[in-house]
Amino acid sequence: MARPGFSPDDHTFMDHALRLGRRGLGLTWPNPSVGCVLVRNGAIVGRGLTQPGGRPHGETTAIAHAGAAARGSTAYVTLEPCSHYGRTAPCSDALARAGIVRVVCAIGDPDPRVRGRGFTMLRAYGIGVDVGLGEEEAGLDHRGHFTRVRLGRPFVQLKMALSADGFVAASGGARTAITGPRANDRVHLMRAMADAIMVGIGTVLADDPMLTCRLPGMEHRSPVRVVVDSRLRLPLASRLVATARDVPTWVLGTVGAPPDAERALRAAGCEVMLVRRLDDGTLDLGAALRLIGVRGITRVLAEGGPRLAAGLIGSGLADEIVLARSPDPLGTGVPAFSAPLPDRYRLAATEPAGRDIIETYRQET
Ligand SMILES: NC(=O)c1ccc[n+]([C@@H]2O[C@H](COP(=O)([O-])OP(=O)(O)OC[C@H]3O[C@@H](n4cnc5c(N)ncnc54)[C@H](OP(=O)(O)O)[C@@H]3O)[C@@H](O)[C@H]2O)c1
Repeated sequence: MARPGFSPDDHTFMDHALRLGRRGLGLTWPNPSVGCVLVRNGAIVGRGLTQPGGRPHGETTAIAHAGAAARGSTAYVTLEPCSHYGRTAPCSDALARAGIVRVVCAIGDPDPRVRGRGFTMLRAYGIGVDVGLGEEEAGLDHRGHFTRVRLGRPFVQLKMALSADGFVAASGGARTAITGPRANDRVHLMRAMADAIMVGIGTVLADDPMLTCRLPGMEHRSPVRVVVDSRLRLPLASRLVATARDVPTWVLGTVGAPPDAERALRAAGCEVMLVRRLDDGTLDLGAALRLIGVRGITRVLAEGGPRLAAGLIGSGLADEIVLARSPDPLGTGVPAFSAPLPDRYRLAATEPAGRDIIETYRQET
C-alpha cells in the first residue's frame, strides 16, 4: 500500500533495500541484517547489506560500492543508521562523509545505543530524514534483533510438520516423512534464514537428524544447532556429534547433569551450556534462550518435537508457529499438540507448498 509522503520511486527503492537486507538473515548475528540502496538522479549507484558476522554494516557496504557516485544521493535503508562508536565510526557519520543528502529509513532501532540518535545525528549534519516507509516489513525482518534488544532473548519461530490428522510421526516415533519436497525446501530456507536451529533430545534420539541447510548452493548457511538436553543424553555416535567440528553444535543441559557426559561432548567438539531447572523439574527454556541470546543469536528456528513445542508455547516463548500441513492422514502416531493453540496466536498467512499447506501463526504482543 502506498504510504503518504513518499513517491512511487521511494517505494520501489525501499522494496529493493528490504529484499537486499533479507538476503543476510541468518548470517549477520549478532547484528541485524540491514539493506541499503543509494540512488542518484533516479538510478541506483550503490547497494549493500550487512556482511556475514555483522560487519561492515549495510550503509558502509553500499557507500563503498558506490564510490564517488554516492555524493548527492538518497540512501534507502531498512533500519536506523547506527550512531555509536564501536570498532568503526557510526554509519550516520559515514553517510554524512559520503555526501548523502537524504535518508529514507524504514524503522527506528530500539537498541539503547541508537534509539533515535541515528536520526538526530543525520539531521544535525543537514541530511533530510524520512522515516516509516516499509515499516511493517522491516519490523518483521528485524524481529530477531528487536526481540533480543527488548526481551534479551532471540525471536523464536516454531515449525512443525503435521499429518492431516495431527500427527508429527508414525507410532513408535520412527522418522516419518510428513510433507513433500516443496514444503521441505521451504523448511530448509527457513533454516538458512535462522541463526540457530533448536530441537529437543527426543527428536535426536528418534531421528538422528543433521539439521543442516541442504538447499543446493546454500549448504554454507547452516545455522548453529542447539539441542535441549537436560541430562546430556546426546549420543556421541549421533550425526550431530559426528559433525560438531564442522557445524557448531550447542548442547543445553541443566546444572547437575553428569560431568562425564559433559566432558565427552566437549571433547567431541560440542559446546555445552548449563541452565537451571524450574520448580517443576524442567529445564528453564527462558534462561536457555537468554543464554544463547547473550552469545549473539537473534533468530531461532525450533523444529520440535512435540514436548519442546509444548514447552515453548506454554512459556510464551514461541513468537511464531509455522505448521506445514500434509493432506494425508497417518491414522495413528505421535500427536503434535495435546491442546489447541492458545487464543493469543492469530493466523497471519496461509500458502500452498505443493500438496501441503503452510500456515503461519503469530503471537499477539
Ligand atoms: N513432524 C515434525 O515436525 C517433527 C519435528 C520434530 C520431531 N518430530 C518427532 O517427534 C518425536 C519426538 O518427540 P519428543 O517430544 O520426544 O521430542 P522433543 O520435543 O524434540 O524432545 C523432548 C525432550 O526434550 C527435553 N527437554 C528439555 N527441556 C525441555 C523443556 N523445557 N520442555 C520440553 N522438553 C524439554 C526433554 O528431555 P530431557 O528431560 O532428557 O531433557 C524432553 O523429553 C519423534 O518421533 C520425532 O520424529 C516431528
